[in-house]
Amino acid sequence: MTDANSIKHVASPLARQTLLDGDLIRPVAGRRPIRLLPWLQVVKIGGRSIMDRGADAILPIVDEIRKLLPEHRLLILTGAGVRARHLYGVGLDLGLPVGSLAPLAASEAGQNGHILASLLAPEGVSYVEHPTIANQLAIHLSAARAVVGSAFPPYHHHEFPHSRIPMHRADTGAFLLADALGAAGLTIVEDVDGVYTTDPKGPGGERAELIREASGAELSKLDALPFDRALLEVMANARHLERVQVVNGLVPGRLTAALRGEHVGTIVRTGAQAA
Ligand SMILES: Nc1ncnc2c1ncn2[C@@H]1O[C@H](COP(=O)(O)OP(=O)(O)OP(=O)(O)O)[C@@H](O)[C@H]1O
Ligand SMILES: [Mg+2]
Repeated sequence: MTDANSIKHVASPLARQTLLDGDLIRPVAGRRPIRLLPWLQVVKIGGRSIMDRGADAILPIVDEIRKLLPEHRLLILTGAGVRARHLYGVGLDLGLPVGSLAPLAASEAGQNGHILASLLAPEGVSYVEHPTIANQLAIHLSAARAVVGSAFPPYHHHEFPHSRIPMHRADTGAFLLADALGAAGLTIVEDVDGVYTTDPKGPGGERAELIREASGAELSKLDALPFDRALLEVMANARHLERVQVVNGLVPGRLTAALRGEHVGTIVRTGAQAA
């Protein structure tokens, strides 16, 4: 007969701890998690830099992705682009809180994903929602070489109220997913050759110099970045991904080269330690 009394006393290393004492938690929770999908390559396609340019930018990158499929299994995540910026403008004018703006902007990133997935549908590629990415990505990638999702993380009405514009946007979302899945890599596709010392398209852009490689901490000193600033914070605590590469998706072949491990853009080193 089961001793009802013993059931209450579950032997667990954290059972009697507050979860607030780092010294007690570290031996249990400090170890590196397993890599769920170590063969996966995650690619974030810029909303503004690629999708908003329409056919001229999208069709060549779709063609490049199509040719990459036999070589890689991909999770392609799309950013929100100009429609989200318009939405922020209208929403801020009306006084909407950040928690209302975040899910609306996320839906724009999803729309871009639907567009990209439609173009790759003949290759068996579909758009999948976040719950599917969370629970059924492995089976989808057993059936197809790639799936498309929204890069925007679903903080939605839980978005941190640090700023009136959601601070966790597409780049942060793509990184969080790639690192949580233990992916082989994350490539961020933009319309510039990488990260420059200053915005190459902004005032004084002619003096901008391309940074070939830097740590996230070094880049945090720059005034302007081609990705969410929150990405740098998340990167500092990465568990698997040791680097991210930012590449120019308007130049044919750059994404292909990056996925083959070539240094063709800016490599940003994260805080993850080599295994
Ligand atoms: N330090 C920098 N180095 C390179 N580009 C920069 C830098 N600072 C700003 N930029 C600008 O960022 C632009 C890319 O914009 P942004 O990152 O908002 O687009 P996106 O990633 O396509 O958008 P989304 O986040 O919606 O997917 C580049 O075209 C460039 O002008
Ligand atoms: Mg960007």
